Amino acid sequence: TITSILGRRVWDSRGRPTVEAEVRLEGGARGIALAPAGASTGSGEALDRRDGGTAFGGYDVKGAVAAVTEEIAPALLGFDAADQAGLDARLIALDGTPNKTRLGANATLAVSMAAAHAAAQAAGAPLWRHLGGEAATLMPLPQIQILGGGAHAGRRIDIQDFLVICPEATSFAEALDWTAEIYRAAGAIMKERGLLQGVADEGGWWPAFDANEQALETLVRAIERAGFAPGRQVAIALDIAATDFGKGGRYRLGLEGRELDTDGMIRMLLGWLAAYPIASIEDPLAEDDHEGFAAFTREVGARMQVVGDDYLVTDAARIRAAAAAGAANTVLIKPNQRGTLTETKAAWDAAREVGYAGIVSARSGETEDVTIVHLALGWGVGQLKVGSFARSERMAKWNEALRIEEALGARARFAGRAVLGRSR
Ligand code: PGA
Ligand code: ZN
Repeated sequence: TITSILGRRVWDSRGRPTVEAEVRLEGGARGIALAPAGASTGSGEALDRRDGGTAFGGYDVKGAVAAVTEEIAPALLGFDAADQAGLDARLIALDGTPNKTRLGANATLAVSMAAAHAAAQAAGAPLWRHLGGEAATLMPLPQIQILGGGAHAGRRIDIQDFLVICPEATSFAEALDWTAEIYRAAGAIMKERGLLQGVADEGGWWPAFDANEQALETLVRAIERAGFAPGRQVAIALDIAATDFGKGGRYRLGLEGRELDTDGMIRMLLGWLAAYPIASIEDPLAEDDHEGFAAFTREVGARMQVVGDDYLVTDAARIRAAAAAGAANTVLIKPNQRGTLTETKAAWDAAREVGYAGIVSARSGETEDVTIVHLALGWGVGQLKVGSFARSERMAKWNEALRIEEALGARARFAGRAVLGRSR
């Protein structure tokens, strides 16, 4: 049973305040978890509660921390931390709003995850095994950013993430080895072209390009220079994050000074799919463009992964509605889009029910917290996206997955191409 819950203000990878929760149990077990924060958010996400005002750009979280210590802690004292569903139900009822606008999803999620860690520790198992038991052996296929963009790079280019996936690697560790070489090669190419200007929010190279397509071309060169075959061996994944520059069926590509309608966006993307080895595409259209999302999925969903992030916001009901409309075939799973582990799991359960694939994902504002890696393993989600191959808030996650792969030993099964989403 829970004997204490502490809220604490700590700092995230962008130097902004965030919420840490510490849950202690009778018998001494303890769990700590930190809330992440997005920059390119969907309007349907649970609320990341901030104080506003002038301190730290309005990003302070004193209110959310107080919610943990003054409201959540008294309500959960004496509660059984092993009853995650009951504990999360109590958090949801205590908040009383659909999107955690009262307590803040940063407060509720930190507590929800910290309780899970404490319960796992009390049971004497790492969280991934506590969640998944003996069946938890699927090492996720990582989606790793090489070039950053969009809201994570001052809108220097429109498209947000240029990533690689290595479906032909034979282990998670080998997928990281390959990606490390590609990341290095991309940096070298940028340097030779006089374009090396540091990294974006998730550690990918800063995109000093004149056109969005130059980033794609650079990524293909980097894959080749690292000694891999672009296509089957190493494929490209994109997060267009179109909600950031599209609304009401109009898409403003700032870098190229053009505005496209939904058809124009789809035609542009189909052109890229024809020219580059792209295996996965996230938020190709904006969150309000249901017709566009469905039309794009009809066009390409049978042969490639179409992912909803801002479009689905880790919401079970939205996933079911999207499936009924034939929009997307894969869901990005971000716990802080909902604010409790139970609701996050419900989204993944809904995805499986409707035949969608899943990708557990970090946010652009992150910390040393590695809970999401345990969720990907424990729930058998099959894919993991935590940003680039630099900076410790990213590497902490990749490294945690390496430890788990080692712990699994011969029982580890690396998720290859089969986990990628496809419309049926
Ligand atoms: P965000 O970016 O955390 O800024 O939302 C990640 C993503 O869009 O996948
Ligand atoms: Zn996204």
